[in-house]
Amino acid sequence: MLVEPTSENPDMGHPHTYSALRRFRLVEMSDLVLERTVAESQSERSEIIFPADANALGNLFGGRLMQYIDLVGAMAASRHARAITVTASMDHLDFVAPVLVGDLLILKASVNRAYRTSMEVGVKAMVEDVRKNRLRHVSSAYLTYVAVDKEGQRLVVPQVLPETEHQRRRYEDAGRRREMRGGETLRKKEMRAALPDGWHV
Ligand SMILES: CC(C)(COP(=O)(O)OP(=O)(O)OC[C@H]1O[C@@H](n2cnc3c(N)ncnc32)[C@H](O)[C@@H]1OP(=O)(O)O)[C@@H](O)C(=O)NCCC(=O)NCCS
Repeated sequence: MLVEPTSENPDMGHPHTYSALRRFRLVEMSDLVLERTVAESQSERSEIIFPADANALGNLFGGRLMQYIDLVGAMAASRHARAITVTASMDHLDFVAPVLVGDLLILKASVNRAYRTSMEVGVKAMVEDVRKNRLRHVSSAYLTYVAVDKEGQRLVVPQVLPETEHQRRRYEDAGRRREMRGGETLRKKEMRAALPDGWHV
């Protein structure tokens, strides 16, 4: 949705108003869009699992699944922001069931909620049983991406406009997770700031 600034459309203190947006760099953004629906950026990726991706038990190696999750999450975030995105964090990663060599893995990603420069993306991984035409849930994760330009400067992103009951619930849940994450992120930042150069936590 493209919203043109008018004199009848005052800021109302909203963080994503035109005056607030002007305080940030908006290079690389194709247009000035204040909201985007979840459907506009929903992304999907499919993989057939080969032996090269398996552990000693013949199951998909967890690190490879994390890579697929990160990639499909980045697709949704970049589509929402219309910009390059970097992964800030991955949390609540659940490996519910193993994925076997030969399985058809389907990954689906949706932007649950956007803030100023970051977005929470939910990813669900499923295995499709092609004979029975059924999907089996194998993993879920929430990731946070930050939109940046080519110089790595953070960019303001459009807000998420949830349209369905399910999307509204995920939007509210994302807000609760951000509150929980916020305290931990701040604590780690303070610890990093107190360390000498070259040391990290
Ligand atoms: C992610 C990154 C840009 C955040 O930088 P920063 O200096 O902490 O920036 P800020 O404190 O201004 O935070 C920017 C946004 O990221 C969010 N954020 C920062 N760290 C976060 C974390 N660990 N988890 C979730 N969100 C986080 C902030 O809440 C803020 O969101 P908002 O603008 O929507 O309110 C920076 O840490 C970075 O570049 N990390 C490396 C990213 C990367 O290379 N990823 C690939 C891994 S191999």
